[in-house]
Amino acid sequence: MNILILGGGGREHALAWAVMQNPKCDKLIVAPGNAGIAQIAECAALDVEDGGAVTEFAGENAIDLVIVGPEAPLAAGVADRLREAGVLVFGPSQAAARLEASKSFTKEICDAAKAPTAGYGHFTDAESAKAHVRAQGAPIVVKADGLAAGKGVIIAETVAAAEEAIDDMFGGAFGGAGAEVVIEEFMTGEEASYFVLVDGTDVLPIGTAQDHKRVGDGDTGPNTGGMGAYSPAPVLSDAVAQKALDEIVKPTMAEMARRGTPYQGVLYVGLMIENGQPRLVEYNVRFGDPECQVLMMRLGGQVLDLIHACAEGRLSEAKVTWADDHAMTVVMAAEGYPGSYEKGTVIGGLDALPEDSFTQMFHAGTAEKGGKIVATGGRVLNATARGATLAEAQARAYALVDAVDWPEGFCRRDIGWRAL
Ligand code: AMP
Ligand code: GLY
Repeated sequence: MNILILGGGGREHALAWAVMQNPKCDKLIVAPGNAGIAQIAECAALDVEDGGAVTEFAGENAIDLVIVGPEAPLAAGVADRLREAGVLVFGPSQAAARLEASKSFTKEICDAAKAPTAGYGHFTDAESAKAHVRAQGAPIVVKADGLAAGKGVIIAETVAAAEEAIDDMFGGAFGGAGAEVVIEEFMTGEEASYFVLVDGTDVLPIGTAQDHKRVGDGDTGPNTGGMGAYSPAPVLSDAVAQKALDEIVKPTMAEMARRGTPYQGVLYVGLMIENGQPRLVEYNVRFGDPECQVLMMRLGGQVLDLIHACAEGRLSEAKVTWADDHAMTVVMAAEGYPGSYEKGTVIGGLDALPEDSFTQMFHAGTAEKGGKIVATGGRVLNATARGATLAEAQARAYALVDAVDWPEGFCRRDIGWRAL
């Protein structure tokens, strides 16, 4: 098979690494890719949010399967354009991608499916949103309805802070994403993510993970895209996972199909778990980043068979083989992230890293410049490892971190603390 992966972060490097291990992969192109991906696959410059350009590229390169990494191309309808042209694609339609692109849409689907989630109100003007906040009291959660690069959620400790967030959102702080606002009950408990493949009809769980959103050790400092992750997530026990499937995932997927917009692709199920009861925090219509890195480390080459079966609507025939292992990824970021940071700093030591089935250094934001690897983003490298225990995976991941020579980078030193 000739395969095209859209995206260029650590998630896509991990996907490429896993897909390449499957003998069914004849040729792999990643667009746009990064310096790490370029070491294992062909990279192509392509506007991945332009459905016409992606479809044309797939035709010219005899692509048999397109795997969409990030949410933006999905929300832009790239999967629809590919399907119209008869190209096999892994990823939901624009209509089904609303499960990530609109928070009020997801709440409405949960209502219709009677899926447990936080109570909420949906507002199109600041005054009624504020009246709702005053009636409910704090803490309370204020969310921009649309895609806001993970920044559109404010956990307000006071009514005044919630009112300020509402003014910011309707004032355009998140652009069009904040033209509508969802206000949610603040849920307590432990968060974990559950990953399932959905082919429109069938649902196949492929793993659990937990990430660390805050930038600093001990879960302190501002939120980030994720500073590290591990799989499996102990809080998502078999019993909790089954409840999440029966009460949340299956009913909402059935509701999507009933509306004529069946979901196809990987579904990231963000859950809040308290006293053994899961409630939905959010859906994402893609793999998590960096959660994908630990899932790929554990699944390996079989992921291509699973993705292929999902794209062809054959999930009922597919089976996941689980090793009884643990994986961890530690994000190495540029000093200053998630605020402003320097670009172009040189990263040394990468050539000497061990490469085996237990450790992989996935690249997230790198480029090659004059024979050297330089940092191009905030989150730059993902030191990823597998082990018989989480402690073993952690020791291997940090050994990888410590072998890198990058004075302008930093990482959290406590990834996995909750589970260890
Ligand atoms: P979201 O983008 O909706 O996943 O929100 C980002 C993060 O905000 C989540 O991962 C949670 O940590 C937190 N969060 C979102 N909604 C709630 C809620 N209703 N109660 C408590 N925490 C929440
Ligand atoms: N790590 C969180 C996300 O991918 O949304």
